[in-house]
Amino acid sequence: MFATSGRREGALPPVLYLSAEVAPLSKVGGLGDVAGSLPAALAALGVPMLIVTPWYSGVEERVPLLRLPIELSVPLDGRVERFTVGRAWLPSGVPVFALANDRLFGGPEIYDEPRDRERFFAFSRAAAEFARLFPPSIVHANDWHTALALVWLHRWFDDRRDGPRHALILTLHNLAHQGITDISYARRLGFEAEELLFEEWQRYPGTINVLARGIHVADAITTVSSTYAKEIQTPEFGEGLDGLLRYRREALWGIRNGIDVVLYDPATDPVLPARYDADHPEEKIVCKRALQAELGLVEDPCALLAGVVSRLDRQKGLDLLLEIVDELIARGVQLAVLGTGDPALGRAFQAVAERYPGQMSVRLAFDPVLARRIYAGADVVLLPSRFEPCGLGQLLGLRYGAIPVVRRTGGLADTVQEWTGGRGNGFLFDSPTPSALLEVLERALAVWRRPDEWRLLVQAAMRSDVSWERPAQQYLELYRNVALARLFMFAFGQR
Ligand code: GLC
Repeated sequence: MFATSGRREGALPPVLYLSAEVAPLSKVGGLGDVAGSLPAALAALGVPMLIVTPWYSGVEERVPLLRLPIELSVPLDGRVERFTVGRAWLPSGVPVFALANDRLFGGPEIYDEPRDRERFFAFSRAAAEFARLFPPSIVHANDWHTALALVWLHRWFDDRRDGPRHALILTLHNLAHQGITDISYARRLGFEAEELLFEEWQRYPGTINVLARGIHVADAITTVSSTYAKEIQTPEFGEGLDGLLRYRREALWGIRNGIDVVLYDPATDPVLPARYDADHPEEKIVCKRALQAELGLVEDPCALLAGVVSRLDRQKGLDLLLEIVDELIARGVQLAVLGTGDPALGRAFQAVAERYPGQMSVRLAFDPVLARRIYAGADVVLLPSRFEPCGLGQLLGLRYGAIPVVRRTGGLADTVQEWTGGRGNGFLFDSPTPSALLEVLERALAVWRRPDEWRLLVQAAMRSDVSWERPAQQYLELYRNVALARLFMFAFGQR
């Protein structure tokens, strides 16, 4: 409708970007990376971005935080929770407002089940109060942790207490988590039960679902790839919300994630033993040898070294990999696994690795530096995900010339193209079965045995566009659309 593009400073109101994680302050997974880098890409286009996130204890050791003379009061469960506000700057220069409350966020942990509903519902309310200091603004929430902020802002507008309404955007990074809670919570939060109860779209009757409510009230909903945007409108991927998402499909955008290509650059990355780029990828072999030594693998340049850097979670399909480890080792493949998450899956990987010293290494840790050395040293990265909203591992693999071997789903399908006839940047498989995974790895091995062709593949992969450049333009267009639409609706007295 009002599609525009290009740089035009000052055309937009402030954008308050709400996220439970923001790298480098806090990070558990991809959400932290995205919140730490997308706002910077948008700020570079002239968008006035402000990030709002919880102040977890210890954050002040990573970035200097200045306490501001602002206090936010949040009613919760008949009490009043008070949040104070600290301000920091990301390395990119984007301001971050960290909301502090010692009772709820006094520990270093980012997530802390079963307290997370209480913690993030209160944070969302505080973030909504904070947004009221910036009218009108665009409030861009991420996942269930901050979705309730949109519900509050929508409700205050309904009550006609709040002047021009904020434009509301919700990004879905993962539908598997929705903030589903017993209905009694509605009253504790200060809502009438009916306001949050949502029987028609609900998988679990008698519960409230803040993500669903956020989807309902947002002016626009985005998810992190166009394929995932289509998938979540089907019962197979919709996690019970496919009906609601079909109902809102006109407002649903799929915009793939990018990575910070300055931070993640094999030509300059200081944690690598050697530097290389797409024109001269030869030194990657030095990174491979160093990685093999670091992980106790046999220093064999001819063995295909496959890396897995992942949350250990059923979503990631790593159980498929476990089933075929014997076959892979028999074909001379080496495996380097790094991740944390499901303890049973971690133990299963460790048990297999014990059988293959020198061929397989498993580190159950969260180690961003080793992760980069794996991307640089590995020949392929494996992402056999059952579903994958976007996936960052394949983007990092492409950037560092570790060829992605991925399941054709979500953002993996949008960013990896099959290598064939000298075109493409990776290998894809369809059926979520061990035999399909083995079959795609056989295809990768066949190319691996032709070093000249492999080198062309590595160069093509490294030249893939994994930056925020295009996606940031799409967010800019979205922000313009919602801000303008909101203005028109206000002028004509509609909601
Ligand atoms: C979640 C998704 C992942 C996505 C990330 C950032 O972790 O599982 O696919 O890349 O969020 O959007």
